[in-house]
Formats: sequence, C-alpha cells, structure tokens
Amino acid sequence: MTVTPATHSADILIVDDMPDNIRFLSSLLIEQGYRVRKAINGKMALTAIQTIQPDLILLDINLPDMNGYEVCESLKQDEQTQSIPIIFLSALNEALDKVKAFQVGGVDYITKPFQLEEILVRVKHHLMLKTLQNQLQHQNQELQTTLGELRKTQAQLLQKQKMLSLGQLASGMAHEINNSVGFISSNLKPAKQYIQDLLELIELYQQEYPYPSDTIQAFMEEINLDFLEEDVNQLIGSMQTGTERIQAVILALRIFSRLNESEIKSVDIHEGIKSVLVLLQSRLYPENKPPIRVVETYNKLPLVTCYASQINQVIFNLLNNAIDAIEAARDRLQAASEAPTIWITTTWENPDLVTIKIQDNGIGIPETMQSRLFDPFFTTKAVGKGTGLSLLTSYQIIVEKHQGQLICVSAPHQGAEFKIELPLKLTTT
Ligand SMILES: Nc1ncnc2c1ncn2[C@@H]1O[C@H](COP(=O)(O)OP(=O)(O)OP(=O)(O)O)[C@@H](O)[C@H]1O
Ligand SMILES: [Mg+2]
Repeated sequence: MTVTPATHSADILIVDDMPDNIRFLSSLLIEQGYRVRKAINGKMALTAIQTIQPDLILLDINLPDMNGYEVCESLKQDEQTQSIPIIFLSALNEALDKVKAFQVGGVDYITKPFQLEEILVRVKHHLMLKTLQNQLQHQNQELQTTLGELRKTQAQLLQKQKMLSLGQLASGMAHEINNSVGFISSNLKPAKQYIQDLLELIELYQQEYPYPSDTIQAFMEEINLDFLEEDVNQLIGSMQTGTERIQAVILALRIFSRLNESEIKSVDIHEGIKSVLVLLQSRLYPENKPPIRVVETYNKLPLVTCYASQINQVIFNLLNNAIDAIEAARDRLQAASEAPTIWITTTWENPDLVTIKIQDNGIGIPETMQSRLFDPFFTTKAVGKGTGLSLLTSYQIIVEKHQGQLICVSAPHQGAEFKIELPLKLTTT
C-alpha cells in the first residue's frame, strides 16, 4: 500500500496574537504549497475551526482571551474536532509547559524563535501521521462493513443449505409416502366391497342353513359376529379418513415447497397459508396443552406473482415464531384465562400490493430488542432451539427479493404483530 498524504494542499490554521509570527509562519507554509488560515485569538480560532475543519493547527499558548491549552481542551472535547492534530507554539520552553501541552492533547511543541526546517519537518510529519490515521480509520470501517456482509452471507448460505436439504427431504418423503398411501387408499374400496360380499355370503348361509353345527355356533359367538359386522364398516371408514388426512398433508407439503413448479408463479396466497397451517397442526394442537386458536380473516385477494415457495417459507417462519412466543407465554395466558391465539389477516387495500398480518398473544418483543430482530444470528431462544436466522431470511425474501415490506409491531406482554406488504407483481432486477 502506498501512502500519498495530501500534505501539500493541506489546510493549516495558525493561531497567534503576534502579527509578525503569523506573517512569518504563513509565508513559509504557503511557499511550501499549504493552504493557510489565520486567527489572532482563541474565540476566532474556534469559530474558524467550526466553519471549516483544518488538517492541522499551529496554536500559540499565550493568547489574549483563552490560552492555547483551553482552546486545545475545548477542541478535544468535541467529537468533530478531537482528532485534528495540534502543535503548540511558545516561547516558554520550561518542562512543565511541554508536559501540559501533551496532557491537554497536543501532538507536538515548537519553541520560539522558530527554526525554519524544524517547523516544516514537524508539520509534514504530523500531517502524514494524520493521513495514515484517517486511512486506518477508513479501512477499519470498510472491514466492519465487510464483516457485517460476511455474516449476512454466511447466514444466507446456512439457511439456503438448510432449506435445500429440507426441501429435498420433504419432496423425497412426500413422494414415497404418497405412493404407499396410494396403495392403501386404492385398495380400501375393493377391500370394503370384499368384506361386504363375505358378510352377505355369511348371511345367505345363515338363511339357507339356519341350524349351524356346534363348532360354527361356538366360533360365531367367539368372534361376536353381530359386533364384527357393525364394527368392520366403521373401521374401514376411519382407515379412509386416515389416508385422506395423509394425502392432505402431502398435498400441503407440495404446495408449501412447490418443488415441481417454476420458481416465479402467480399464486393464491390463501392456499399457501392454509398449506402452512396443515404442516403446523402438531404444533397448533400440542398434547396435554390447550390448542392454539387460529383466527383466519381472509379478504378477497388477487393472484400474486412471486417466488411462491419462498413466500410460504416466510409465512411458515412467522407462524413458527408466533407459536414459540405463545409457548413462552402459556403461564400468563392461563392465569389471565386468555386463549392462546394467532390472528392471520389478509387485505387488499392498495391496488398494487396485498397485506398479510400475523399477530399473536405471546410474550411480545421489548422495544430495545426490535431493532436487532433482523440481525443475523439474533435469537433469544435456548441453544439448539433457535438459530436466529428465520427473520433475517424472511426480511431478505420480502424486502430484497420482492421489494415488499416486513414490519414488526410489538410491546412486551402484549404479543407481536408482523406485517408483510407484498407487491402484486414481482419486479425482477
Ligand atoms: N412473534 C414473536 N414474538 C416474540 N418474539 C419474537 C417473535 N418473532 C421473533 N421474535 C424474536 O426474534 C428473535 C429472532 O427470530 P428468528 O425467527 O430470526 O430466530 P429464532 O426464532 O430465534 O430462530 P430460528 O432461526 O430457528 O427461527 C427470536 O429469538 C425472538 O426473540
Ligand atoms: Mg424463528
């Protein structure tokens, strides 16, 4: 790296009450290519510095109003001016003054009468130091930005990888289960028919041979034929309901991941929400706890052109967070006899966008935490329970990918509300 400090066009402020000194110093510095401003007392100096910040200050200690130390102290207290290098000028060369000059924040000290070469060398040296310091600060800032970007990219990659393997797993499983359930459901109908036929056959036998042998009689009693006839139909019925439910979950999984469809699609947002709710059934109806009520208020929405599976992913993330927040507030809700509830509301008020609101009466989010919600890896959940990536991913999907909005409104103990504003048409960049 080459350092090319702009020492020659640097702006230097000379503060001295002796016109001769000012004249001497300024002609010397102007000759070297520096830009020079002058002030004859402390107040003027401070005003000049506030108006335009110089790159370096040559500051006399003995000034009429405030002395040089005071001017220096005042500049060091102000964040804007504290890094301007100050070289003290003085005829007083006692050790005590020099020490004080450094104590109040000066970087150097030149004594009168001035040595031409010495002044130039010191000025150049401190301007160079200041330039280096600025460069370091700038690089530090760039590093911080890069680090932030890196963390975001790492988070994105992690989440993408997770979703990709989850998606593949889900699609593989859906395929396998679908095939197997297909056998069962397609065989159930003939099985029911066969059983009916067999039962009718038995009945015919009973009519034709009303006096069965003792062995047959004993077996009929053992199997409780009357009950069996009645129960077998119910049994087949519940097997049918079971397979229908499995098929509904598989369908939801397919809608949710939309793996066999092109990425950008015009979709019915409500269909996506419903598929997510099916997949979250076990969390909404937990064992040994009151179920979580879901209040769905769906207004008429147009089809939305979007990355459908990603929008479903966002709804899934927000609902999962809402359930987590409700689980963490179970005791409070029970004490207040309040039903654990999630409200999902969709609206189409602005012609160009639809709104999806997901609200819960869980633990809520303290105001101090709200600005950090979308930071990579920000989580309040126990290790292994939360990765702190879902909201960041959701934000990236809604705001960066779809040019929409994802807004959080919450107060502690009053639940949280996340609002998605999704443009009807995706503008690809
Ligand atoms: N509905 C909500 N109510 C209360 N707090 C919430 C809600 N949604 C998010 N939060 C807070 O925001 C944090 C970040 O949420 P995010 O979904 O990004 O990560 P996570 O849920 O902790 O982990 P994961 O990445 O596994 O979902 C949560 O840890 C939680 O503190
Ligand atoms: Mg989460």
